Amino acid sequence: MQRSEVNAILQRTREFFMRQDVHLPPWADYGLHQWREVNREAAEELLTLHLGWDVTSFGEDDFRQTGLTLFTLRNGSPGGKPWHKPYAEKIMHVREGQVTPMHYHPQKMEDIINRGGGNVIVTLYNRAGAGLADTPVSVTLDGISQTHAAGTQLRLSPGESVTLEPGIWHSFWGEDGFGDVLVGEVSMPNDDENDNVFLTSLPRFNPVDEDEEPRWLLCNEYRRWLA
Ligand SMILES: [Fe+2]
Repeated sequence: MQRSEVNAILQRTREFFMRQDVHLPPWADYGLHQWREVNREAAEELLTLHLGWDVTSFGEDDFRQTGLTLFTLRNGSPGGKPWHKPYAEKIMHVREGQVTPMHYHPQKMEDIINRGGGNVIVTLYNRAGAGLADTPVSVTLDGISQTHAAGTQLRLSPGESVTLEPGIWHSFWGEDGFGDVLVGEVSMPNDDENDNVFLTSLPRFNPVDEDEEPRWLLCNEYRRWLA
């Protein structure tokens, strides 16, 4: 992915968030020069737990088709040390028709929440070894237990959410014809390095080619830019 593409994607996501009346911490606006002024010691939690912007196409070429834009608002350390916050929260921009590929989290329990805009479609499977099981999947939707056939496409309209236990395969996208979706995630601590298993082996983060200066830094590159 080119840096110019990342900059353009974030510009459009920031406009989408503004239209949805989503407000972010002040440092969500920081460019490289402002980040370099930040007291690194005071911001250690933010930097280490990878709060902030995240743009990925999961290593694929077409971000419109396969990709996700996220902002991590809060997080804790895996295992509770050194930061013992036992929860995490993200706000995401899921574009119409844009797929987050099938994956599960060995550790993290998460709620996927439609906070506004279009509809989000979520497909679920139980796990059979390293693959998909053909067995019915039990989930909770806004506190109501449901069981669905393997691979059912659940439609979450604005206000609806699904709770996923660790180990449940899931993929999601914005339903065609309904526009982009503002999706929330409330979960146990998020550990992108170790807690994502993709059905087809995919990188969680993209390498970025620097064809222009970053307008905003991504959460996985603070160390590199601020070293
Ligand atoms: Fe997930």
